[in-house]
Amino acid sequence: MEGYKKDLSTYSFLTHNTILLPLSSKRSYNSLLLLHQSPTAMKAFLITIITCSLLTIGSAGDFYKDFDITWGDGRAKILNNGQLLTLSLDKASGSGFQSKNEYLFGKIDMQIKLVPGNSAGTVTAYYLTSQGPAHDEIDFEFLGNLSGDPYTLHTNVFTQGKGNREMQFKLWFDPTKDFHTYSILWNPRHVIFMVDGTPIRDFKNLESRGIAFPKNQPMRIYSSLWNAEDWATRGGLVKTDWSKAPFVASYRNFKADACVPSSGTSKCAPNATANKSEWWNQEVDSAGQERMKWVQKNYMIYNYCSDVKRFPQGLPPECSIA
Ligand SMILES: *[C@@H]1O[C@H](CO)[C@@H](O)[C@H](O)[C@H]1NC(C)=O
Repeated sequence: MEGYKKDLSTYSFLTHNTILLPLSSKRSYNSLLLLHQSPTAMKAFLITIITCSLLTIGSAGDFYKDFDITWGDGRAKILNNGQLLTLSLDKASGSGFQSKNEYLFGKIDMQIKLVPGNSAGTVTAYYLTSQGPAHDEIDFEFLGNLSGDPYTLHTNVFTQGKGNREMQFKLWFDPTKDFHTYSILWNPRHVIFMVDGTPIRDFKNLESRGIAFPKNQPMRIYSSLWNAEDWATRGGLVKTDWSKAPFVASYRNFKADACVPSSGTSKCAPNATANKSEWWNQEVDSAGQERMKWVQKNYMIYNYCSDVKRFPQGLPPECSIA
């Protein structure tokens, strides 16, 4: 259990224009060790043949059925017959859960209501990740703030173990007043981050230009609420007010229209199923492009592709491809 916590709380940082960026997690470090210790295990992992069945998890959602609580000694709770899940954080511990299934492509929606009031120092992480040294990962992280000050929505994409693709946003609503839908649309050509159906970020498949894309490694969904007062709010200047604990984030209406790899079933490929899903070929349409431009113009507060100081030897290649 301790492992999960460390996984997320041991970040290393780099200061840029007063924004502190989690660059790599303990997990990646452990993975590197694994690479040294067990090259054969890694090879076996990489050549795993993936077959996959299309699965839609009903919109009613049942947290008992779809998720396991993984740490927090009772601080994570499934309530209302599986319709609601809450994570809590106090001075002693945070808490977290993970999906029972692994997914390889899909449209995955979760409604989240973030820690209200003074949430400074808290981080609600919601992400997909695969295992192993060259893991892929798609991250949403919500950094809390003082009452009335805006949350920061931090996003990142790791491919083959390499991240450093942070983009951060403010939201155009108060994410603590109500549930809002955070979605990941992941198909062979795009990873699209969406908030209430509005695309905010589109990571494209640019393999033809030599940029890795997540497409072979199934990922599990993870979420956790933990404390990062050392850096989360204004670079650690604002500390967590433990008199306000426990801090609580809530989840409901999980929906996964996604491929779940399993042996002996259809491959997760375009024509594998008669019931071909819309998300498989989906991309940001022209109305979506306009919305995304609006968000990026008005609500984006950090974009790694604009951080020339951080990449003195040149911006990452995807930054110069429209
Ligand atoms: C908190 O609010 C301040 C003031 O608006 C802002 O500068 C900061 O980026 C916000 N977010 C975090 C995570 O500190």
